[in-house]
Amino acid sequence: LFSAIEMAPRDPILGITEAFNADQNPAKVNLGVGVYYDDNGKVPLLECVKKAEAILMEKFAPRTYLPIEGLAAYDKAVQELVFGADSDVVKEKRAITAQAIGGTGALKLGADFLQRFTPNSEVWISDPSWENHRALFESAGFKVNSYPYYDAATRGVNFAGMLDALKAMPEGSIVLLHACCHNPTGADLSDDQWTEVIAVVAQRNLIPFLDMAYQGFGDGIEADGKVVRRFAEAGGALFVSNSFSKSFSLYGERVGALSIAASSAEEAARIMSQLKRVIRTNYSNPPTHGGQVVATVLATPELRQLWEEELAGMRVRIREMRTAFVSMLKEKAPGHDFDFVIQQRGMFSYSGLTKEQVGKLRDNNSIYAVDTGRICVAALNNKNINNVIEAITQVL
Ligand code: LMR
Repeated sequence: LFSAIEMAPRDPILGITEAFNADQNPAKVNLGVGVYYDDNGKVPLLECVKKAEAILMEKFAPRTYLPIEGLAAYDKAVQELVFGADSDVVKEKRAITAQAIGGTGALKLGADFLQRFTPNSEVWISDPSWENHRALFESAGFKVNSYPYYDAATRGVNFAGMLDALKAMPEGSIVLLHACCHNPTGADLSDDQWTEVIAVVAQRNLIPFLDMAYQGFGDGIEADGKVVRRFAEAGGALFVSNSFSKSFSLYGERVGALSIAASSAEEAARIMSQLKRVIRTNYSNPPTHGGQVVATVLATPELRQLWEEELAGMRVRIREMRTAFVSMLKEKAPGHDFDFVIQQRGMFSYSGLTKEQVGKLRDNNSIYAVDTGRICVAALNNKNINNVIEAITQVL
């Protein structure tokens, strides 16, 4: 049985962490995976999380099974965060939200659900997109295509190309869109561009699937979540996967959710009943701890305030690192223009470094980045940035 099994390639992102972990160089830097590190190079445990955990700890609650769709208080809080408590879709009970195993788990639930009910639709992801999008939808049984997105010449979005592709997609196609902080490019659409996308999606009867893994890392929680609300207001089917891995620094707790907006409360109830079957046959029901932490923070005004402040702190530090990165490279490598790094949103910079340059950084300096040239700016700090700049200058 096993003799014909070939070795699979390493995961393009998490495989970098495996290689990084095996590297003995004390000066190694992991700019691969999308994880926020503080200025001491540590993954923070947020104060709001500590306080929520202290509250939960005191209760010494039994660990029974959660409902299939997750903790009710979590699902409610997440739905209100995603769509807005005062939105029509929430007030009219047209939305459903199910706790998921991180953002990836939410995408997979949505993909499995769609495969059951619209198996002939094809999926369209941006070119480029998060490395796992294609594999995830393919493994759910879909044919996955890509629409033009990044324009290397302008370092921005090839919006005309994207719009043309959307207009040419067959009705019922599933379009994966990044709600904010596009991964990997950091290039987002403007409000006006979203207006056009929302209109084409409605006209062409496309199924939008918004992936929101970095809410709060662009311009703030409200601003980053705005596009989800705009899609919900436009009506039509809508899928939203969101994650608290980054925004709560709860990576290993795997806390995310899938929300779906339907056209009526009755339709929403039918959707939820089917989604529960997808969950039950995958992992039965989600784990307790992370969902309880997030639900406690979101539902407790002081903790929620603290979370917003802490998230703002992470966002600001990343911006400072972008500015430092650009100004240091200006000095060290004056022939190269990296100003675009300041404009990019979220944790990443699509740096323009080639696969070969990335290989040299890894082999010569133990600095790890994704082969596409994506670097995680959130892993830079005042102690490692000099080495990183020095090494990049050498490979340029
Ligand atoms: C990333 O893009 O690095 C993160 O979303 C982590 C992951 O699961 O790939």
